[in-house]
Amino acid sequence: MSVSNPISSHTAPGIFSLAGKIALITGGGSGIGFYIATCMVQAGAKVVITGRRESVLQEAVTQLGNNASYFVNDVTDLKTLPALIADIELQAGEIDILVNNAGINMKKHAVEVTDEDFDRIVQTNLHAVFSITRECGKRMIARQRGSIIMITSMAALYGIDRVVAYTASKSAIGGMVKALTTEFSPFNVRVNAIAPGFIETPMMLTAMNGDPSRRDKAMDRTPMGTWGKPDDIGWAAVFLASEASKFITGVSLPVDGGNSIGF
Ligand code: NAI
Repeated sequence: MSVSNPISSHTAPGIFSLAGKIALITGGGSGIGFYIATCMVQAGAKVVITGRRESVLQEAVTQLGNNASYFVNDVTDLKTLPALIADIELQAGEIDILVNNAGINMKKHAVEVTDEDFDRIVQTNLHAVFSITRECGKRMIARQRGSIIMITSMAALYGIDRVVAYTASKSAIGGMVKALTTEFSPFNVRVNAIAPGFIETPMMLTAMNGDPSRRDKAMDRTPMGTWGKPDDIGWAAVFLASEASKFITGVSLPVDGGNSIGF
């Protein structure tokens, strides 16, 4: 007697494919965002990357090829965001995937963090993420399809010293994922987060350089014994954007070599 195979209608590449989808990746010109764009292009998506520096975006698009385009935008310029999303949809097409990747960090003792410092971090890592998500979310809800991916941090999962504003902003994104999941998921718009561990990018290397004890502490609690590579985050994002994760919403996925549960 033959047993029907519930997954036989999909080949593995097919269900992970992003062919025909359009992805918007903020801060996609460099670091993790660039690798998310690279992996999504490899998975068949068209990507739109944003950032503040046109030369960086131009270079990134040259490397990404014909399925990539860019828009110059500072995410903290909140009033420009509704028009930005409208322009992107006009010129590139309907956004199926939003990756809120743009982010900044700052290492300072909490008692030295000024209100301006705190506000700057929160404006980029939290407020801008909400505004972009609202603008994309209302369009996705109307179309009844979409995948929204936040990029949080280990700082949202356990305590790290000298990053109070960053931690507050990334932890708040964790809460935002939960709230938005209840409102968006009934409309087939999934909302998830990736919590990267320590990934080799300029931001991470700057934070670790000159602080060997912090570097050793981070490595000691990473069972896989290595820093992550930016494409480790890229492929996780492809998964969360693809049909393969169609029943996954409201989660925060650590991609961290075990760092968040290491001793
Ligand atoms: P990065 O500094 O290499 O890249 C950040 C990107 O965001 C850059 O393209 C930058 O231009 C863009 N960006 C910053 N402010 C912006 C603004 N106002 N408007 C538009 N774009 C802006 O940093 P990295 O490491 O690639 O970080 C990417 C994301 O991953 C961030 O959200 C960060 O918090 C998160 N992350 C990184 C980790 C790591 O180990 N590298 C660990 C945990 C989280």
